[in-house]
Amino acid sequence: MGSEFVESIESQPVAAKLSRSAIFLVATLNDTPQGLQKVRAFCADLSAFIRAVGFRDLDGGLSCVMGFGSDAWDRLFGAPRPQELHPFQEIQGVHHAVSTPGDILFHIRAMSMDLCFELATQIMIRIGSAVTIVDETHGFKYFDDRDLLGFVDGTENPVGPACIDAAVIGDEDPDFAGGSYVIVQKYLHDLAKWEAIPVEQQEGIVGRKKLSDIELEEAAKPTFAHNVLTSINDDAGNSLDIVRDNMPFGDIGKGEFGTYFIGYARSPSRTERMLRNMFIGDPPGNYDRLLDVSRAVTGSLFFVPTASFLDNVSAQAATSPETDVQPVTDQSAADAEPAARSNGSLG
Ligand code: HEM
Repeated sequence: MGSEFVESIESQPVAAKLSRSAIFLVATLNDTPQGLQKVRAFCADLSAFIRAVGFRDLDGGLSCVMGFGSDAWDRLFGAPRPQELHPFQEIQGVHHAVSTPGDILFHIRAMSMDLCFELATQIMIRIGSAVTIVDETHGFKYFDDRDLLGFVDGTENPVGPACIDAAVIGDEDPDFAGGSYVIVQKYLHDLAKWEAIPVEQQEGIVGRKKLSDIELEEAAKPTFAHNVLTSINDDAGNSLDIVRDNMPFGDIGKGEFGTYFIGYARSPSRTERMLRNMFIGDPPGNYDRLLDVSRAVTGSLFFVPTASFLDNVSAQAATSPETDVQPVTDQSAADAEPAARSNGSLG
């Protein structure tokens, strides 16, 4: 990534330290001009909301990432658009990865749920009339960073510069350098079915030891192990990583026990390839057995612009396909300018 970009653009905290609590809010936009205006106006205020709520507990590590779905991008910001932004594509393989509606994602993380809850509440006080929440999941960390299947989740996440390199767009899309793509999926587990599987077999399915979290030796891993199917390389043999921050969630009364998958990447094609390996199999049929006990009930893809982009969005700034063909008034031209700046050649 060019150092010029690093100096002039601030990314959203996609590589934030893994937290103990999280709220995942997926919302759709209500289709009114006032609604779109309200959401655009809020974009520039988000950083102040995070500062205000975060300041109440400085050790709480509050962070929030805001992402936009493909259609929402066009309606809110128009051109230019991130090169690889598209709706999440469902996969019909041995198992089914559904694609579900989602215009806006808030990924709110903190060491305690009160901070997450307060920020989500304040955001919705501001934009609640302009959006409809289609999924709200409250995630928690579970003993030793385990998922509800009992395995430690997150160990092989890239860290430091490798984390930025995996998650943050560089020179490949200069207008959107510093941004990221994120895919979320909500999985519900059949725990009774999972717990009936002997631990040694579970370890083969994940590719790691359950108690110690030590990776199985290559020769001992089945070809369908989760960490085999999700380890992918480019043509030159370099590994193509993503940055995950999965969270367990549940509702005991409803018998719901799940994992909320969230994966950031500088290109969505990485996560999509992993998903094809899991759902269709590599080679086809050699699919991920985690899916025999885990059903994806949501699936959406979002673009995460830089914090600098959000700071520069103005309420009136959209250049949606409709407004493209309308006469440009002096006011709309003046308003459009800051957004155009924030889209690319900052500084
Ligand atoms: C690794 C659980 C879905 C990508 C792991 C590990 C566990 C796990 C326990 C091993 C520890 C670690 O390195 O984190 C789950 C569960 C899922 C899920 C319970 C949902 C039911 C996904 C999805 C993707 C994915 C949908 C990507 C599309 C990865 C990757 C690794 C990994 C890249 C690291 C592989 C390596 O380099 O060793 N996952 N995962 N996971 N998972 Fe998942």
